[in-house]
Amino acid sequence: MKLWGGRFEKGTDELVNDFNSSIRFDKRMYKQDIKGSTAHAKMLGKCGVITEEESAFIVKTLAEILDEIENGTAQFMIDAEDIHMNIETMLIAKIGDTGKKLHTGRSRNDQVALDIRMYLRDETDEIIKMLKDLLRVLINIAKDNLDTIMPGYTHLQKAQPITLAHHMCAYTQMFERDIMRLADCRKRINIMPLGSGALAATTYPFDREFVARELGFDGITYNSLDGVSDRDFVIEMSGALSIIMMHLSRFCEELILWNTNEFSFVEMDDSCSTGSSIMPQKKNPDVAELIRGKAGRVYGSLMTILTVMKGIPLAYNKDMQEDKECIFDAVDTVKLCIPVFAKMLDTMKFNKDVMYKGAGGGFTNATDAADYLVRKNIPFRKAHEIVGKTVLYATKHGKALSELTLDEYKAICPEIDGDIYYAIDLKTCVEGRKIIGGPAKEAVLKTIEKDISFLEKE
Ligand code: ARG
Repeated sequence: MKLWGGRFEKGTDELVNDFNSSIRFDKRMYKQDIKGSTAHAKMLGKCGVITEEESAFIVKTLAEILDEIENGTAQFMIDAEDIHMNIETMLIAKIGDTGKKLHTGRSRNDQVALDIRMYLRDETDEIIKMLKDLLRVLINIAKDNLDTIMPGYTHLQKAQPITLAHHMCAYTQMFERDIMRLADCRKRINIMPLGSGALAATTYPFDREFVARELGFDGITYNSLDGVSDRDFVIEMSGALSIIMMHLSRFCEELILWNTNEFSFVEMDDSCSTGSSIMPQKKNPDVAELIRGKAGRVYGSLMTILTVMKGIPLAYNKDMQEDKECIFDAVDTVKLCIPVFAKMLDTMKFNKDVMYKGAGGGFTNATDAADYLVRKNIPFRKAHEIVGKTVLYATKHGKALSELTLDEYKAICPEIDGDIYYAIDLKTCVEGRKIIGGPAKEAVLKTIEKDISFLEKE
């Protein structure tokens, strides 16, 4: 018998029953559901809607049900539709009429909104922790590579020399913003909707603030229609998770490239690589590729929930049950990816010599040669042209700028002296860029300092 069976003359068709039921995926919210019901039961007792004894009896039995679910003795039933009615059915099976009082003044519409908010709040905290662990790995690599010169790219063409530390700190900035985004989204998740009822709140004199305090919410919702039908926070969180995956995927793409024979900037550890079933020589960056692929899956979740919500009239509609599988999958995917990515990064070997050599090619010091001429009182646009001509000359003669003789330089521009070689040395190029945000050791150390204090305060 369904908890809502009173007005029905026939049972639910079996196909419809399976179709409608969400227990197979919403059972993961059992803890939140029991916590929420416990707070609701306490509040019912406190407000005198049920007696204190009844309230205590319900609270005690809910704790037993929690134990039974956790030790595997409780059985979920497809027939009971979702986690909310499964637990209520278990409660009623144990204590009969007293159990039947729990749902007073409450609807599954506000109940599910409560549960998902609590669930996502907890997951947000977990993901933030994982991102912080990843930040620590990045900061350590940065600290160890303040002097590791490598080429920086634009258009995937060598551009200017930077350091590996500087490159890693680009990602610490991204992951810090990801943490801030999640923390910000959490503020809107952590608002308590119970008391909204089905849509029009309730006639009982409920103490909503009490429930919010019991459950650790920062505030309560202020419109019952919105309270049951808002899923903005699911969309926001999917967006934040998508951005995390975009960052991871982008980083993975770089590592895949760096790990190629052509680049050879890094070598992924055996423990984080995979082989080929036919080509014996292969060592593939499957982990990085899989993370890059899974980004698509998380974007899919964002599109799902956006599309589900776009045409739903107020207030609750069953469409909204579709919020769960996509956000759960996005959460699971992100939680799967961050730690394995951190491990891959942590175990990776950086080929510093190859990086240094790479930084020497492609005229990465050409900007510095132009800046050298600026210091000799040549206007920048003019200096740019002179160095452009020098690069053309050097390219034709198969030389790097550092390999041109002073006579060759003088022939192009008489203002050039012997100090050009110091000016275009890769180390000079990097160390000269010491303004905040630059690749010089001094500047990167400031960034690292800021990153560490972010980890401590957030
Ligand atoms: N399982 C439902 C969901 O996930 C719970 C709310 C159902 N409410 C209703 N009136 N059918 O959205």
